[in-house]
Amino acid sequence: MAKTVKHKELKSYFGDKDHLLVSQKSSFAQLIFEMLSEKTPSENELKIFELILNLSIDHGAETPSAVATIQASLDGKNISESVAAGILQINSSHGGAIEPCMEILYSINNEQLPINNLVDEYLKDDKRMPGLGHRIYKDEDPRTKLIFEKMSEFNMDNKFINIARDLEKEMEAQKGKKLPLNIDAAIAVVLCTLGWDPKLSNAVFIIARTPGLCAQYLNTLDK
Ligand code: COA
Repeated sequence: MAKTVKHKELKSYFGDKDHLLVSQKSSFAQLIFEMLSEKTPSENELKIFELILNLSIDHGAETPSAVATIQASLDGKNISESVAAGILQINSSHGGAIEPCMEILYSINNEQLPINNLVDEYLKDDKRMPGLGHRIYKDEDPRTKLIFEKMSEFNMDNKFINIARDLEKEMEAQKGKKLPLNIDAAIAVVLCTLGWDPKLSNAVFIIARTPGLCAQYLNTLDK
């Protein structure tokens, strides 16, 4: 993440690069990638990152964050208050499942955590496995399908896709119900493949969803 520097030292947010030049050469997605990760993306890494931003930009007026933004607007709040109300709804069941899902994927990969034991523990404790299940998509989340297809097209490592698919299969076997990998799981797979710290994930979702919340607010003004 970009380091905090004293205001008077703040020539540019991009280290020794000139912000004016960087702003002309890079896409917004690239600047977000670089600011959060302090890494320069390859062409394909940038394409997949842009895809997850694009897919997260909005998901209709019924999502928890949009509902809060619209309600705040109808209550007479201004755009800052309304968008903030929406962002406050980003939590473990909306957008915020990416971080714990990444932690699980990394643990399975790095510590060879047995998937069957993990699923068993979640079900015994009546806990919801982050990244599985969706309000609307009961068989497959089309966004997940697209992200995995693009990762394959871009020749990205499929290790975390396979781990996520194994988790989905094991949950179906033990629960006796299909709980598809949702977009949070797909984003978690991408960010694990990029080697990112799970702590960066909420920032990705908040950045991606903010334009959608602004649009939801503006829509209410026409009514
Ligand atoms: N892990 C374990 N069990 C889950 C589950 C999960 N992730 N998601 C749903 N279930 C179970 C529920 O406990 C319930 O079981 P029951 O019938 O035995 O009581 C059943 O599946 C309900 O399924 P469904 O109606 O399809 O889910 P929902 O609409 O109630 O919930 C979510 C949708 C997204 C809130 C839910 O799946 C969830 O909390 N997922 C984890 C968080 C997450 O990934 N959020 C990001 C969403 S994009």
